[in-house]
Amino acid sequence: MSNTAHQYKLPDGVSILDGRGGLSVVSVKTPWSSAEVYLHGAHVTHFQKNGEPPLIFVSQCSRFAEGQPIRGGVPIIFPWFGACEGRKGQHGFARNADWKLNAATKDGQGRVKLEFQLPDCAEAAAFPKFTLKFFVTVSEILEMELQTANLSASENLEFEDCLHTYFTVGDIAVVSVHGLKGASYLDKTDNFAKKVENDDAIHFNSETDRPYLNTTATVEIRDANLGRRILVEKENSASTIVWNPWIAKAQQLSDFGDEEYKQMVCVESGNVAVNKLVLPPGKCSSLRVRLKSKKSA
Ligand code: BG6
Repeated sequence: MSNTAHQYKLPDGVSILDGRGGLSVVSVKTPWSSAEVYLHGAHVTHFQKNGEPPLIFVSQCSRFAEGQPIRGGVPIIFPWFGACEGRKGQHGFARNADWKLNAATKDGQGRVKLEFQLPDCAEAAAFPKFTLKFFVTVSEILEMELQTANLSASENLEFEDCLHTYFTVGDIAVVSVHGLKGASYLDKTDNFAKKVENDDAIHFNSETDRPYLNTTATVEIRDANLGRRILVEKENSASTIVWNPWIAKAQQLSDFGDEEYKQMVCVESGNVAVNKLVLPPGKCSSLRVRLKSKKSA
């Protein structure tokens, strides 16, 4: 195992197991829920409240292998989103790195907090010196915090970040996404055309790939099939990306089932495109996301 977790005692309910593809996974059980986070990418692949279907979707066709991204869960997108001119790889290098588990703690109420850190890697050398930490708190809700610190004494650290969350839904045909009315977005299915969201709710009947910009709003996913509402609350995030690959793109993705687009929707919180962050020397910034779910009325 490529981590130091054995050097200290893990709290009750937390264990490190050999996961899929032989990759190490941190398994968490709390009085309210269960969760799993792979060290590969510090990738949350599971969160489920007792008595509810899983909140997080992972493709049955996902790869679980060194150097390959996991399809589903919560990929950590850093330090760039999408393609980046002059650099190799889509969505940055953090999602393919093996992270270190720094700490696992449990508070008096039974909430479990995990702290991960991106180790030094060759790709990071092209940037001013930084640290990237990821905190996952598991309770009745799932809280995630991506913390970036610029350690350079003289250079700004410019980056995009995003918690690219895949949600489980019962049937995409009856899912709606609320909270983005009035926001402008780039329509990646229409050559990045700049558009404005005029509708109260986004519905899905074709490929949808939209970075919404300059929006800090909470987003709600309403799922009539599973009878569930999911709230995506965020802090220090000016962008929300809504993505569903639909039929043709699903068929093109080798690590995604042809029919799986019906069971997922991505609502991603971060800072991308014009919302990219410029962190001055010595400064730190934290992207925070809280996921809550409840039965629909
Ligand atoms: C979304 C992008 O965030 O991620 C899409 O807006 C992209 O364009 C999708 O297709 C999945 O990306 P990847 O690299 O995981 O296949």
